[in-house]
Amino acid sequence: MEKYDRVFELAKNRGFIWPAFEIYGGASGFYDYGPLGATLKRKIEDAWRRFYCVGEGFYEIEVPTIGVEAIFEASGHVGGFADPMVTCQQCKESFRADHIVKETMEIPDGLKKEQLTAIIKEHDIRCPECKGPLGDVYDFNLMFQTWIGPGQKKKGYMRPETAQGMFVDFPRLLRFYREKLPFGVTQIGKSYRNEISPRQGVIRLREFTQAEAEVFVNPQFKNQHPNFGAVRDLALPLWDENAQLSNGPVTPMRVGEAVERGTIANQYLAYYVALTHKFLVWVGIDPARLRFRQHMRTERAHYATDCWDAEVMLEGLGWIEIVGIADRTSYDLTAHQKRSEVDLSVFIPFEKPLKVKKTVVTPDMKTIGPKFKGKAGKIMAALKAMKPEELDRPEVRLDIDGEEVVIDSSLFKHETAEVDVNGENVIPHVVEPSYGIDRILYSVLEHAYDEEIVQGEERIVLRLNRTVAPITVAVLPLLSREPLTGRAAGIAQTLKNAGYFVEYDDSGTIGKRYRRNDEAGTPFCVTVDFDTIEDGTVTVRDRDSMAQVRVPADGLAGLLSELLCTGRPLEGYGKKV
Ligand code: GLY
Repeated sequence: MEKYDRVFELAKNRGFIWPAFEIYGGASGFYDYGPLGATLKRKIEDAWRRFYCVGEGFYEIEVPTIGVEAIFEASGHVGGFADPMVTCQQCKESFRADHIVKETMEIPDGLKKEQLTAIIKEHDIRCPECKGPLGDVYDFNLMFQTWIGPGQKKKGYMRPETAQGMFVDFPRLLRFYREKLPFGVTQIGKSYRNEISPRQGVIRLREFTQAEAEVFVNPQFKNQHPNFGAVRDLALPLWDENAQLSNGPVTPMRVGEAVERGTIANQYLAYYVALTHKFLVWVGIDPARLRFRQHMRTERAHYATDCWDAEVMLEGLGWIEIVGIADRTSYDLTAHQKRSEVDLSVFIPFEKPLKVKKTVVTPDMKTIGPKFKGKAGKIMAALKAMKPEELDRPEVRLDIDGEEVVIDSSLFKHETAEVDVNGENVIPHVVEPSYGIDRILYSVLEHAYDEEIVQGEERIVLRLNRTVAPITVAVLPLLSREPLTGRAAGIAQTLKNAGYFVEYDDSGTIGKRYRRNDEAGTPFCVTVDFDTIEDGTVTVRDRDSMAQVRVPADGLAGLLSELLCTGRPLEGYGKKV
């Protein structure tokens, strides 16, 4: 069995991941999280909150997962969020055109539909299902469309990214953050993409969870991240566009150097690439199977100027994107400002007011008012907007609502005066780290999955980070009888009261129960035996080393807290067994 299949088998058996709607035959692109999977997911999300909401000070918001059409027209998703699709002329099955071509030959990402059609024809690439001829490649929009309310008057879409909700809320967020840049906002929630033919199991989902941060920054200061010093010396495995074009290697490069050399566009982008590395390693991604790949110009999303993907190596699947970190510039806010006609700029005060020469126009309103009546206000505004040289004429011609209005120079005076300008209005730029939680979860499982032979028997163990492991501690009475069961249940309750995820398990041999917990990734097992009744001590077993120590039962909550916070080996505590 391939490793993906073995990991997935374990994930199914232990209650991490199940195919959705299984009793009705399932549907590709949809999966359920079972009890351990949902808990692991929540803990990964909580770790993400610790990094972004607590660490970076970015508040989390929650907006509807359905959006009105205007949002996605403005964002460009209605017009451009499509994948190339091709349909078999014989069996009528549809496929992702670029994926089908890639099964036959290497092609760069981002080829246009016409280019893909030409390749399919030239190389006589046929339907993978029935070998029938394929038609021309066309664009398939990936958004799920729906109708809001009865009838078909108001079109809506399931959001394809959480980001848009944060752009649309920008005016309120700006007020919340007291009108000052930079600030960040986060959201964790479901997004939806109607993938053409998802064939990579849990990697390509039609309904998935994103954790996204939108960092709004004054474009002038994109190279001055306030906390850049904390990541400057971190070496990251970078694979930039040039290295990809020349088939060069992934190069470890310090974050500071990457910005100085222009490899990563600016400090803000680089900071979040670095933070992503820290987060992923913290939740259990193997750093040896992690790299950051710069998007090629041809594959960048319509909104991005520079974008880096965190990619992990997964067995049988290759390098898979799990996080994208993009510089979205002012693309989104500019688009929403245009579409909504709401000002989405921020007033940035200058350190010192600037002295600027300005034309001051004083119209003769006593004459203009009665003469031009309803148009007088617009005439005033048009005159004030004119340049001095345009006003130095015997008469000026104005376009007022499409009509030419001629104003004699005797009807206004103008002079050039020096005025103070205290600041300027700027549309912020956005740097966005966007995490695919489902892909991260699967990668964490695969990278934690280990098989070894112990005393002639295979042991499967999930070496999950102690903090994200769904169950922190299993409490096991050595035998399923009193007084051991009662004492073990009491210990389990004490640990639950202390806030730990605890599993009480008294079925099967102790060896079987250890194995079951190894497969669930439970970092510690506490065994209650007759000595516990005598002297109040228990055995604590470490999942990874299988080392066992004897410690007092009433100190367990404190011991777990220390083991989780410090990550130290269990062997340093208590009496070795
Ligand atoms: N917000 C980036 C993405 O969903 O791809």
